[in-house]
Amino acid sequence: MNINIYKTKEELSDKLSDYIIQNHLNGSIALSGGSTPLLLFKDLSKKLKERRNLNTKFFWVDERCVPPESDESNYKMAKENLFINNIFNSQNIFRIKGEIEPEKELINYNNILSENLLIDKKIPSFDLIILGLGDDGHTASLFPHEFLNFRNKEDCIIASHPSSGQKRISLSEKIINNAKEVIFHVTGSGKKYVIDEIINKRGNYKSYPASYISPKSTNLSWYLDFEASEMLTK
Ligand code: 6PG
Repeated sequence: MNINIYKTKEELSDKLSDYIIQNHLNGSIALSGGSTPLLLFKDLSKKLKERRNLNTKFFWVDERCVPPESDESNYKMAKENLFINNIFNSQNIFRIKGEIEPEKELINYNNILSENLLIDKKIPSFDLIILGLGDDGHTASLFPHEFLNFRNKEDCIIASHPSSGQKRISLSEKIINNAKEVIFHVTGSGKKYVIDEIINKRGNYKSYPASYISPKSTNLSWYLDFEASEMLTK
């Protein structure tokens, strides 16, 4: 496990975008949503602004079951900040269709993964998965209240947000752990305690889905800013 700590979220995003450009432009990448990736998307599109029709394959770690125009759509944030000026070939952007009835889109997205990714031991394998982390220890849309229901799933799952009940489609733990490389991209002091518990395997870490992210490739890295890593450096 590699832990990379940067003074600010801006410096983190600058270094992580450089790493992705140097190592993953020709591969398959699964993106998370939420607020953390916004800086990364902006840095990537700024650094690649002269490029056109790159063949990077983009997928989502999870998507809220809302229309793509919704401000809650993970795809919308990427479309507005990363997929601009035809930098990337739109044929290789595989969004989860949040507007489709979840049970139907689940089948559809499982098929998209099987058709567009390498299959390793019957499970789709991404080159890179970028994960966020919730302060309750969730990652993707693998939430503590229902995580155990999905532990043996080898495909995508339909999750429910613990407080809003909002449906989401998410990669399963097994698909995430089948990736060649997994990166946790986490910033802010709100995550410092859960990061400490997960990395140091203490406190409530066993109740956190993020604790079970352990790629078979062993290629797992954390990209943290000072605020998020504060407990680690005490
Ligand atoms: C989502 C994400 C989710 C996110 C964490 C962290 O759809 O919301 O995939 O897993 O990564 O909740 O969210 P923030 O980046 O907003 O803290």
